[in-house]
Amino acid sequence: MKASAIAHSNIALIKYWGRAQDHDPTLNIPSNDSVSMTKYGLDDIHLQTHTTIEFSNYYEEDTAHLDGEVLSGRHRDRILRVIDPLRKYAGVDSKFKMMSKNDFPTEAGLASSSSGFAALAIATVNALNLDFTKEEISKYARLGSGSAARSIHGGFVYWNKGDSHDTSFAHQICDPEEFDMNAVIAIVHEGKKEVTSDVGHNFAHTSPFDEVRIRKSEEQAQEIKKAILDDDFTTVGKIAEENCKYMHAVMMTSTPPLFYWSPETLRLIRSTPEMRQEGLDCYFTIDAGPNVHYFCRPETMYDLQKALEKIEGVRKTIPVKPANDSHVTERHLL
Ligand code: PMV
Repeated sequence: MKASAIAHSNIALIKYWGRAQDHDPTLNIPSNDSVSMTKYGLDDIHLQTHTTIEFSNYYEEDTAHLDGEVLSGRHRDRILRVIDPLRKYAGVDSKFKMMSKNDFPTEAGLASSSSGFAALAIATVNALNLDFTKEEISKYARLGSGSAARSIHGGFVYWNKGDSHDTSFAHQICDPEEFDMNAVIAIVHEGKKEVTSDVGHNFAHTSPFDEVRIRKSEEQAQEIKKAILDDDFTTVGKIAEENCKYMHAVMMTSTPPLFYWSPETLRLIRSTPEMRQEGLDCYFTIDAGPNVHYFCRPETMYDLQKALEKIEGVRKTIPVKPANDSHVTERHLL
């Protein structure tokens, strides 16, 4: 009972920020629908997680390793939130050993939890021989981290918020070839963030702007889906940029307030109109961290990368394109 999976991370165009208040918080049912691009790093960093899990009666306890370290505390608890219901569903009571590797820094605002829990859900479902659809796997990935629900699919993805474990899952809007959009990530800081998104979600509802953000996000999720299917890059970029600002307005005005931007983040935001004036058609988005993702058409990507590398404070750039589906692999880590 062993299986391995490789899953890609994703960047949200319409953000998930805050869980629906009337549900068990451990289910990660979001307060709004969200939309993302599953991403594949074009240089040596592919922004993916490779995970192997094995269930065996020889193991005396459950153990999980990430990048060579044994996981404990809240990290281990989150892994069990995905594995325990699947193990129960399969009627298995053996213990497991899990090994996982990220090819990029963990918890630095590059969405490591999205690829991590997507890889875990795919590997576990396969190790337990469960005959699940991608949508069903998406529900279990969500239990580890909401955004992981979207990373099961490649290309452009819509997470329908639903109102229960069974109705909250992601589906694909279109595959990577159907909408011509890439991105360049401008890395300004690689350390761990002070408040992880898992914790930050708990504060969203305390912001007076939360209700507005939820209502606008629901509208924008529909609009952006249409723009993606119409191959309308400008509309997609504009909506994504607006939606990111709504999320950060909520973060900054919650109790406690969350300021994820660094001075370099603001420098990038303020450089954007100038880059556009110079003919670089690009739009930014920022997750729960200081790094900035710039969306662009594929043909603009390398010029945009050069321009971003000239901006003070940018330490590294990662060009990305839409990824294919996350998938099972025969390459095992244990
Ligand atoms: O999946 P989580 O709990 O790490 O939350 C993700 C939150 C954001 O990255 C800020 C937005 C999103 O929709 O991915």
